[in-house]
Amino acid sequence: MKKWLLPVMLMSGLTLTTSACSPSDEPIQSETPAPNPEPEPDPSPDNPTPEPGTDGRALVVYFSCTNTTKGVAEHIASVTESGMYRIEPEEPYTSADLNYNNSSSRANREQNDPSARPAIAGSLENLSDYDIVFLGYPIWWGKAPKIIFTFLESYDFAGKTIVPFCTSHSSGIGSSDTDLHALAAQATWMQGRRFGGNASESDVREWIESLNLNLGGNTDVSSFNLSAGVNGKAPTVRLSSGYDMPILGLGTYSLHGDVCKNSVKAALASGFRKFDTASIYGNEEEIGEAIRESDVPREEIFVTTKLYPNQFANAEAAIEECLEKLNIGYIDLMLLHHPGTNDVAAYKAMERAVAQGKIRSLGLSNYYVEEMSEFLPQISIKPVLVQNEIHPYYQENDVIPYMHRQGIIVEAWYPFGGRGHTSEMFADATISRIAQAHGKSSAQVILRWDLQKGVVVIPGSSNPDHIQENISVFDFELTDEEMAAINALDRGEKHDWY
Ligand SMILES: NC(=O)c1ccc[n+]([C@@H]2O[C@H](COP(=O)([O-])OP(=O)(O)OC[C@H]3O[C@@H](n4cnc5c(N)ncnc54)[C@H](OP(=O)(O)O)[C@@H]3O)[C@@H](O)[C@H]2O)c1
Ligand SMILES: Cc1cc2nc3c(=O)[nH]c(=O)nc-3n(C[C@H](O)[C@H](O)[C@H](O)COP(=O)(O)O)c2cc1C
Repeated sequence: MKKWLLPVMLMSGLTLTTSACSPSDEPIQSETPAPNPEPEPDPSPDNPTPEPGTDGRALVVYFSCTNTTKGVAEHIASVTESGMYRIEPEEPYTSADLNYNNSSSRANREQNDPSARPAIAGSLENLSDYDIVFLGYPIWWGKAPKIIFTFLESYDFAGKTIVPFCTSHSSGIGSSDTDLHALAAQATWMQGRRFGGNASESDVREWIESLNLNLGGNTDVSSFNLSAGVNGKAPTVRLSSGYDMPILGLGTYSLHGDVCKNSVKAALASGFRKFDTASIYGNEEEIGEAIRESDVPREEIFVTTKLYPNQFANAEAAIEECLEKLNIGYIDLMLLHHPGTNDVAAYKAMERAVAQGKIRSLGLSNYYVEEMSEFLPQISIKPVLVQNEIHPYYQENDVIPYMHRQGIIVEAWYPFGGRGHTSEMFADATISRIAQAHGKSSAQVILRWDLQKGVVVIPGSSNPDHIQENISVFDFELTDEEMAAINALDRGEKHDWY
């Protein structure tokens, strides 16, 4: 007896006689697949090259014998406005080939033969145009059909993100997707998802939105709904990842120990719900502790941390370290602190952490137009935000519209010019005059100017009165003339080197 016959016979026996098989690995007896479905004729016999999607970045690749997977693939292509590529076997599968009750049917034989690699007709010419590949297949005995193995071994997936999906009669995706990882080890693999034949486009849309992929769709991130804010409660902005983030937070650079913890607690008491830290600040533990000790539910708080360039080479371990130090479950937003060697690899490690639910959104810091335009084509999950030096004397008026056009939020560090520069800025004649006119402080006028420009702010402070003052900027509005007067203060004066 040939080696594969025994397992196939056992499999067929299971289908017919037992319900003890695992729902995630085997067909369920009560809902057996439609018997010997007649494969539909190939609608595109020449196996055409894919139509490019509108953004040219995502491609939906699928194998489907009875068109169930094809239906889901079409929903994905419609939701993501992507092109499609159907994997066509050189030798089409007949209904006899698909008879899973016959131990020697072609499909069963292939699934039992580790070396089976059914040939594919034609080839995919322009895979290099795509960054994201949705890869769909029917479940055959708990696994991906071997033709998917052929496909993965035929191309170079380095730098691409693969998002597996499957259809089945009732089995889950199980290990069918993770089994494929070794065949395209250079790719970033997202967690796979199973759909039933009746999956609707809105089911698919919901799934795709939850993946937070860099699909090129922009959201308006250039203006905030400031009228929704009240002093002590900053409004939020919807990130391209789908999460909401307060537009004003507390910066924690240079705050340590009890000073740091007390600042976070004072900020929480004043209504702050967003905190900015970084591995290099050495205060993630204090921030985590203050949050855990507060009465504010974790879900209402938004924490950003950053990986420093000296961590890029070992980003996975660095991410774990941040999670451990913060100890607040997940990280809302993780940024690369600066461009540097291995920054793309580090970002990809963060993308994997997003897939694993450890981080919710990703972003960058100290990336300007040139750095960003080089970086974006190399990654899959769009950065939701860029955090750069911005204050009245260094306004980045070229960078802000560029980022906004990409659907990327801009956040200002050193909003008051940074320590050592604040007195000069607060005493600036224009800013002081405007502050006086509104009965506000210079600090409040600067923060309001940022917010009216569509820039998120994270002023640093360890003084509870200043903290309270900084979140009290929602009861006045700068006029167009006042905005223009502050805009005119720009003198390209950077206060730090990066
Ligand atoms: N990504 C990056 O590369 C990068 C670089 C630098 C900073 N950052 C982030 O940006 C945050 C903000 O920057 P920063 O904290 O260095 O500088 P900053 O916010 O421009 O200025 C902080 C200084 O302003 C004072 N201050 C705050 N509110 C005030 C108020 N209402 N009235 C008077 N003085 C006030 C603070 O003193 P008191 O403590 O006395 O209030 C502190 O000395 C940092 O904390 C950090 O989270 C990021
Ligand atoms: C050989 C073979 C094995 C199958 N094994 C399973 C299985 O393990 N679990 C399951 O739920 N469905 C199983 N099915 C059913 C298919 O996964 C399901 O009908 C699928 O949606 C077909 O997709 P398609 O129409 O795109 O080819 C199997 C079907 C065949 C032909």
